[in-house]
Amino acid sequence: MTQTSMTVRIDRHGGPEEMKLVELPVGDPGAGEIRIRHHACGLNFIDVYQRSGVYAMPMPLTLGMEGAGVVEAVGPGVTHLKAGDRAAYAANPPGSYSTARVMPAKNVVKLPDAIDFETGAAMMLKGMTAQYLLKRTLPQGGLQKGDFVLFHAAAGGVGLIACQWAKALGLQLIGTAGSDEKCALAKANGAVHVINYRTEDFAARVKEITGGQGVKVVYDSVGKDTWDKSLDCLRPFGLMASFGNASGVVPPFAPGMLGAKGSLYVTRQTLFTHIATRDATQQMADDLFGVVTSGQVRIHIEQRYALKDVAQAHRDLEARKTTGSSVLLP
Ligand SMILES: NC(=O)c1ccc[n+]([C@@H]2O[C@H](COP(=O)([O-])OP(=O)(O)OC[C@H]3O[C@@H](n4cnc5c(N)ncnc54)[C@H](OP(=O)(O)O)[C@@H]3O)[C@@H](O)[C@H]2O)c1
Repeated sequence: MTQTSMTVRIDRHGGPEEMKLVELPVGDPGAGEIRIRHHACGLNFIDVYQRSGVYAMPMPLTLGMEGAGVVEAVGPGVTHLKAGDRAAYAANPPGSYSTARVMPAKNVVKLPDAIDFETGAAMMLKGMTAQYLLKRTLPQGGLQKGDFVLFHAAAGGVGLIACQWAKALGLQLIGTAGSDEKCALAKANGAVHVINYRTEDFAARVKEITGGQGVKVVYDSVGKDTWDKSLDCLRPFGLMASFGNASGVVPPFAPGMLGAKGSLYVTRQTLFTHIATRDATQQMADDLFGVVTSGQVRIHIEQRYALKDVAQAHRDLEARKTTGSSVLLP
């Protein structure tokens, strides 16, 4: 029997007003797929890039890459999930801004009973990102307890998880954020030092905090506005880990300047390389579930929106009005 789903779709790139809630048919899952009924959907900055066209996407496009709910049916070949399972995911292709969908099972994992649906939807994409950054996106020689790292947008969705996880790993995370209130939130969640990068010169402050040494890694999702100064925060052989462009895409640069600034390394990471296989996805999700169920990392859902109010959610995210995670409720 064909069901329908209320789904957020765009027909062309543009502003939040391009997002329309439409009724679409949802069929049965094919090989390697599941049908899931969402209880909550996660909001992520990548949704803004895909909506606006910073990342060009084929049209029409259903949005959203994170969700949690109940598996309704599984297709041939799916063995790790069954109808009735509580589940959550961060996954391609987009389409989680919906009441229900059919999707590949590969990136969908069972949600532990101790984690509610809203928390599941708020943490999968952001939490697995914090995981691969702090544990796998490392400078030569790795990170040791006590090492300084710089993490931009530390009061955001990925940021608040990273602050807590870095503390659990014994790292000294210096967090930047765009207001004093956001700085206080990052500090309350484990950042050892915080810098309001709208009012302070963050490179100068990082040098001061580290006794002139600089940090071993900068985790930079802000992009255009922070790129240049971030390079000045690194110690020799340090790693510039770029993973987003909330302020705009980083312009091309000449590699020679990496030598001049201390033989630096640069990488641009994306979660979807890390969760390319089902095994890798499960391992990362288990690691995340471990720190959340043990209480080392608390998922802060600071904004909740009805699915029909998705345009407001995007406006708030783009206007830097949100902190922590946001969920859309179908
Ligand atoms: N590559 C990956 O695998 C991956 C995965 C997940 C997320 N990301 C990236 O990580 C970042 C954080 O994602 P999120 O979903 O958790 O979002 P978020 O951090 O909750 O929101 C983005 C934050 O970026 C900061 N920002 C600085 N300049 C901005 C500007 N001009 N416009 C808008 N925001 C600006 C704002 O915090 P302040 O006001 O404190 O500056 C804002 O709250 C995003 O860039 C996202 O694309 C990358």
